[in-house]
Amino acid sequence: MAVSITGLDPPLLLVLLADGRLHSGEALAKELDVSRAAVWKGIERLRGLGLPVSALARQGYRLANPLELLDAQRIRAEIDPRHLQQLRGLELLFEVDSTNTRLLDRSAPPAGRADACLSELQHAGRGRRGRRWIAPFGAGVALSLSWTFRDGASTLAALSLAVGVAVARALGRAGAQGMTLKWPNDIWFESRKIGGVLIELRAEAGGPAHVVIGVGINVTLTAEARREIESSGVAVAAVADASGGLPSRNLVAGAILDELLSMLAQFERDGFGAFRDPWTALDALSGRPVQVLLAEKCLYGTARGVDRDGALLLETASGVQRFVSGEASLRLIEGDT
Ligand code: BTN
Repeated sequence: MAVSITGLDPPLLLVLLADGRLHSGEALAKELDVSRAAVWKGIERLRGLGLPVSALARQGYRLANPLELLDAQRIRAEIDPRHLQQLRGLELLFEVDSTNTRLLDRSAPPAGRADACLSELQHAGRGRRGRRWIAPFGAGVALSLSWTFRDGASTLAALSLAVGVAVARALGRAGAQGMTLKWPNDIWFESRKIGGVLIELRAEAGGPAHVVIGVGINVTLTAEARREIESSGVAVAAVADASGGLPSRNLVAGAILDELLSMLAQFERDGFGAFRDPWTALDALSGRPVQVLLAEKCLYGTARGVDRDGALLLETASGVQRFVSGEASLRLIEGDT
């Protein structure tokens, strides 16, 4: 079955500037068949989206760095043909409020098929626990995948951990070394957050469960973006820090889609059992002192991995306690090495 691809529609001005070279206002106006004033307005719009376009007197305009725009063909090239068959739709957007919201507002795909949505920019990207997800234009990957589980929501508690495994595998394929996972599903590099996962569920009792899996990855980060994100108290990293070069956003996006599609089919068949050992191998906090924050209290102990349902195991003075994702959040105790 063919995948329906809805293409990105970036402003042509951005397509011309994406090479990072200097373009004169005159050449841009000619190429776009508009006035110099219209070029100037277009430049202002790009700046308004957070793109660093500099203007050099009597020479022209250029982006601070070359920009790799999302490209459906390059994304598809990373997806195994068997997994591509599972994909019903691949939508690339220039801007959107949130890719998760977009897919949640759509009808669910039939069981066994998936819809994907990626956007260059999210105006209201959402993180877990009501937080915002901040990603500067062209610096990350923001994608969502919609999937319907035939057997409903009862076995989905550990899905977020399996998503973490799939994303870590995908980043490895894109050249990132040393990925780890912080329960339930943050992707870490050297104890800094490189990406996060937001899973949202629509299910009716006894019926199939429609999930939207949202993944946000920092591919590159400027010093300014790092400062902005870290002002919320989270230490961040980017795929570029872990791969010793400039990673391709299309490769990262395609590899994540491929690994998610593969994971979903296996999770539906075998459950979390197929992912527990791989998750444990990537566990960033096992054996380390941590703090577990619950709605009404805070507990201290040593992280001891996860059980067969993906619940966190915490060793405390009064024994081992288990926590399911959603009821608890986890912090590494500062100063631990
Ligand atoms: C987190 O760590 O808090 C989860 C972040 C999830 C962000 C992604 S970006 C794509 C998708 N759309 C959203 O609005 N959020 C998720």
